[in-house]
Amino acid sequence: MQLTLAHLCALVVAPSLTSATSAALPLKGRQAQQKVTIDVTKKYQTMDGFGISGAFQRANLIMNLQQPKQREVLDLLFNTTTGAGFSILRNGIGSTPNSNKDYMNTILPKCPSTPAEVTVSGASCRSGDWKQAYANYLIAYINFYASAGIKVTHLGFLNEPDYTTSYASMGSSGIQAADFIKVLRPTLDRNNLTSVSINCCDATGWNVASQHASQIAAAGAESMVYAITSHEYTSRISGTIRTNARVWQTEYSDLNGGWSTAWYSNGGSGDGFTWANTVFNGVVNSNLSAYIFWEGVQDRATNNNNNEKLILVDGQTYQVSKRLWAFGQWRVVRPGGQRIAASGGGSNIKSAAFLNIDGSVAVVIINSAASAQTISIAPLGFPVVQAWYTDNTHDMATVEATLGSDGTASASVPSRGMISFLFKKAANGTMV
Ligand SMILES: *[C@@H]1O[C@H](CO)[C@@H](O)[C@H](O)[C@H]1NC(C)=O
Ligand SMILES: *[C@@H]1O[C@H](CO)[C@@H](O)[C@H](O)[C@H]1NC(C)=O
Ligand SMILES: *[C@@H]1O[C@H](CO)[C@@H](O)[C@H](O)[C@H]1NC(C)=O
Ligand SMILES: *[C@@H]1O[C@H](CO)[C@@H](O)[C@H](O)[C@H]1NC(C)=O
Repeated sequence: MQLTLAHLCALVVAPSLTSATSAALPLKGRQAQQKVTIDVTKKYQTMDGFGISGAFQRANLIMNLQQPKQREVLDLLFNTTTGAGFSILRNGIGSTPNSNKDYMNTILPKCPSTPAEVTVSGASCRSGDWKQAYANYLIAYINFYASAGIKVTHLGFLNEPDYTTSYASMGSSGIQAADFIKVLRPTLDRNNLTSVSINCCDATGWNVASQHASQIAAAGAESMVYAITSHEYTSRISGTIRTNARVWQTEYSDLNGGWSTAWYSNGGSGDGFTWANTVFNGVVNSNLSAYIFWEGVQDRATNNNNNEKLILVDGQTYQVSKRLWAFGQWRVVRPGGQRIAASGGGSNIKSAAFLNIDGSVAVVIINSAASAQTISIAPLGFPVVQAWYTDNTHDMATVEATLGSDGTASASVPSRGMISFLFKKAANGTMV
């Protein structure tokens, strides 16, 4: 599990700098056969994973669930055999002196008047150079997590710095961010936090993130950045960002649609199928190493019960959207896996493949056709193949995958369905 902290709100006084059921879906002779070919020698980006946010005190909804429901919701989000298998949790760094509304608490409730007054560390809008004080404040945050036994892996010190809002936030250009990164990186290192990576800058959209990337590179700070981070609100992901850093999509959701648990309802923006395609686009066409949905859970009262969450937690009850299972289909891709080439299958088939660290090969396929199709994957030399699918009535359900005598793997995917294959060595370690 990676824990990534994003500065979702600046200090109040901040500078104006922000289970699957098993089902048999027999192969049907009449179904169109779609042949997909994987090339393990053709390698692309390394994957860091998929995730959700728990910001704005949403984790309290899970904390307040009684067993066994609490366990069920946690499994739905994080379990790699029965749930979405998320590996990234994005939490907020609070900046509010109390828990009013759903704001997040700061660890420095009293505003210091000079940088030197910062003992746990902090920052303020008062004039002067607060970069070091802010870096110290962030290190104190990471150390609080560490004292609870939680290792933070990635640190983002801004959130939507191109957006001005009524809640606490912080503005910054890529150039200003680079100035701060040059202070933050050595501060992390001095505090024995060399393993904590810096992510930047959680732009509201892809166009702004592209600007951040070029400004950070021009300012000479690119080598200190692990991932350029973008949201998809003001401009959607398209093409690739020019950077040597990794690229993560760190926050996006449908903010308008009323709560929907549909997989496919004519392409609605909250549909699971729509999300399957959104994530696919980012990973395959835009070189993303991570895709993080906005909230994992939220209640009914917040924002008119819209689709910005994957699971609706309402008191002691919960409802799971199909968006969760759109992500669940990606759980066969584990952190550290490398994307490899996948091709074929015709215009209604989208395919992506990954070589996991354990040597297994994951293949994720979306069928956009209005009819079921049989996917045949050209021989890869693995003796074991498993497959799972999601459609209107199934959630990452096991589907029978067969290995032909020549090693071709086949399984059926329903109309507007998604199927994931996992090819593995035999338990004794042998290939074919
Ligand atoms: C995932 O769920 C299975 C089935 O309930 C359970 O046996 C396993 O312990 C869970 N994994 C984790 C890491 O909790
Ligand atoms: C960093 O680690 C070294 C070696 O373990 C130790 O001597 C030093 O006190 C540590 N520094 C901090 C700031 O924790
Ligand atoms: C994809 O991202 C990797 C870093 O994860 C980078 O090395 C590579 O150049 C990127 N490729 C494209 C086409 O942007
Ligand atoms: C390893 O397992 C495979 C598949 O179950 C089997 O065909 C093979 O004979 C086994 N090899 C050894 C050395 O046990």
